[in-house]
Amino acid sequence: MSDNLIKKILVLGGGTAGWMTASYLGKALGPTVRITVLEAPAIPKIGVGEATIPNLQRVFFDYLGVTEEEWMPECNASYKMGIRFINWRTPGAGMSRPRPYGRYGDQFDHLFGLLPNHDNLPLSHYWTYKKLHGLTDEPFDRACYPQPAIFDRKLSPRFLDGRRVASYAWHFDADLVADFLRRFATVKQGATHIEDKFIAAETDQRGHIVAVTTESGRRLEADLFIDCSGFRSLLINQVMKEPFLDMSDHLLNDRAVATRVEHDDEENGVEPFTSSIAMSSGWSWKIPMLGRFGTGYVYSSRFTSQEEATREFCRMWGISPDTHPMNHVRFRVGRNRRAWVKNCVGIGLSSCFLEPLESTGIYFTYAALYQLVKHFPDKRFDPVLSKRFNSEIEAMFDDTRDFIQGHFSFAPRDDTPFWRACKELELAPEFVHKVEMYKAGLGVDLPVTDETTYYGNFEAEFRNFWSNANYYCVFSGLGMMPEHDPTPLGYRPESVESAEAVFTQVQRRRDELLDSLPPMHTYLRRLHAK
Ligand code: FDA
Repeated sequence: MSDNLIKKILVLGGGTAGWMTASYLGKALGPTVRITVLEAPAIPKIGVGEATIPNLQRVFFDYLGVTEEEWMPECNASYKMGIRFINWRTPGAGMSRPRPYGRYGDQFDHLFGLLPNHDNLPLSHYWTYKKLHGLTDEPFDRACYPQPAIFDRKLSPRFLDGRRVASYAWHFDADLVADFLRRFATVKQGATHIEDKFIAAETDQRGHIVAVTTESGRRLEADLFIDCSGFRSLLINQVMKEPFLDMSDHLLNDRAVATRVEHDDEENGVEPFTSSIAMSSGWSWKIPMLGRFGTGYVYSSRFTSQEEATREFCRMWGISPDTHPMNHVRFRVGRNRRAWVKNCVGIGLSSCFLEPLESTGIYFTYAALYQLVKHFPDKRFDPVLSKRFNSEIEAMFDDTRDFIQGHFSFAPRDDTPFWRACKELELAPEFVHKVEMYKAGLGVDLPVTDETTYYGNFEAEFRNFWSNANYYCVFSGLGMMPEHDPTPLGYRPESVESAEAVFTQVQRRRDELLDSLPPMHTYLRRLHAK
């Protein structure tokens, strides 16, 4: 029995995905399995990937036994309590500040954390009822969460003594994270790091990979090969010939231009959120860190050229390619038909990619690692394991693709050919069903448990990743309202009335936090000075 155990794993690629894979598998499998990471230093990592989602610590770093205080200072990390969508409703060229619109300007927040319940219904239902009956003019995010006001004041999600007040994720320098994990995997776990270029792979009569060969003449054998070679997808697409399913019929963007912009934290504070700013032919991210922010314009080459996109992007920030080096990135949107084929598994960009509108790239990596460990094979490679793994990855990816497509489809703006074309694209039937549920006043993907167990249990979260609060933040933020009273609130005026106490509690909590939280840059300066 034990003779069948996997003894050697080769990870091809040393980007974020490669080193996350080496460290996660190193922890899961222990020293009986030898892990080698083969990386070509002359082939650069993608160099972007700086915003994350909240379960990164619990599902990935806690699993490794690494605290926030250990990794954050080494990765120039900061906190993020959600995403602020700017100018997704009004026409115009890229502009980092919200254009005039309603009470708060053209902006809304997609916040982390679940909604409070009242009388067995989520607060979103009560807000919808009030809105449809003209009983509130507060937008959903500001009525149901304290965070938008905390964003406005650029406060930290933690007190200086470390107590946390809200769910948060992280912004970080992706290259520093890869370096941190390389040291962790090699020094603490004993992984082998080989700097050399992959040239070719040998396969046996079953089509399994037996070994890879390198530019300097090495031959590296393994039982299991993990392809983390990025968009090149050297093993899973090129050697195993697994087709990549292009999904540009769902999402039009296929390019980005990115740079870093210096920022005076003392003068301007550090924003505790990612900004997603609608542009003429796509959108721009703004990811604040200490002393700078990372930014990039994600655009569609069908609707604008590299030169025009760069011009609009530079105009928005008041910068020039002469002073700020521009990283031009081409990307493919979609996933491999199967993420795991025979003894080769694609993880990271080699497996699947969606534009980073909801910061899911790195999540896809550790979610896939979680599933790989759960379905981990021995040398017999029982196809039931790979089949099940592949269907989990497919569901994870397609669900997020649809949610992201919804942002573009339901954004009211239609002032450019890009925004008009987004509305022409077909939505997947499963997503259409969710939209119908929302419009009918139903909760969409309600969390199956309460907040503690939902976020404490990755299985539940994985299966129900975008839940009711996410759909409400984005759909209502884009101005798309349910068409009916949420059932059964029309029959329960006493429940609507008593829910007022919950709304008041949200506002009271907001005011308390505004009075007591430290500025984000004060918290970060202390953290990074330690
Ligand atoms: P990456 O390309 O970084 O690494 C590939 C590795 O393979 C490199 O080490 C390279 O040397 C090696 N390699 C290639 N060929 C080789 C050869 N022949 N021999 C040996 N080694 C070889 N995600 C997220 O969570 N939040 C975000 O905000 C963003 N933002 C974002 C913006 C844009 C524009 C893109 C394109 C992507 C993102 N992402 C993201 C995704 C994120 O960047 C990505 O998931 C991680 O960086 C993982 O990248 P990989 O390690 O898969 O590839």
